[in-house]
Amino acid sequence: MERTGSDGVYREGRDLYTVNAVPGVKVYGEILRSVGGVEYRQWDPFRSKLAAALLRGVPDDLLGGVRSALYLGGAHGTTVSHLSDAWPDATIYVVEKSPTAFAPLLALARHRANLLPLLADAQLPERYQADVGTVDLLYQDVAQRNQAQIFVENARACLAPGKAGVLMLKVRSVTQRGSAAAIVREARRVLADAGFTLRSETALDPFSREHVALTVRA
Ligand SMILES: C[S@@+](CC[C@H](N)C(=O)[O-])C[C@H]1O[C@@H](n2cnc3c(N)ncnc32)[C@H](O)[C@@H]1O
Repeated sequence: MERTGSDGVYREGRDLYTVNAVPGVKVYGEILRSVGGVEYRQWDPFRSKLAAALLRGVPDDLLGGVRSALYLGGAHGTTVSHLSDAWPDATIYVVEKSPTAFAPLLALARHRANLLPLLADAQLPERYQADVGTVDLLYQDVAQRNQAQIFVENARACLAPGKAGVLMLKVRSVTQRGSAAAIVREARRVLADAGFTLRSETALDPFSREHVALTVRA
């Protein structure tokens, strides 16, 4: 296992791993491997867009030095579980609006003290801003029509100046019309108008054909 530039993320060959914070327990059926007495969980890029983005070359220092993060669209916790492994000392606030998805997220957090799930709508950051405070990283994966605007409003509410953000843009959730390139361009414009500096734009194929990862600095 080799370290990568991302804190707590390891690589062997083409595969990414994190050290399992809850040994013996799988979160989504992933492979567990023991190496030198340490248990690693394989991070599946077909199940997690963040793993796909790392493999496709987003700047991996993005996941360095994070003490607190706001994660929008936690779902059942697939990606969140790997961040929980990778950053044992960080605090990761996880917003999810579906009660059905929230139940397994809550169960995950019972064994992972660095996860703080919030049953809330990411379109209303004013409802959780006081609980979250200011974070070092904003991560968004919510597949809504106004994804870029939701990102901007959450950054204004909770992201510290100069810190990083990741927007997993689901292109066809924005509109079925127009080219994918035009939709991405429009999202970039919304981010630039709000004062963000674009660091990278990464298509996630072959892992996810529908998403583009935009990384920014506030
Ligand atoms: C594609 S899934 C997220 C997958 C997850 N990020 C992962 O990698 O493991 C999108 C999630 O966003 C949630 N979602 C959609 N709109 C939302 C909103 N406005 N506020 C909070 N969560 C939302 C959905 O309920 C769904 O669970």
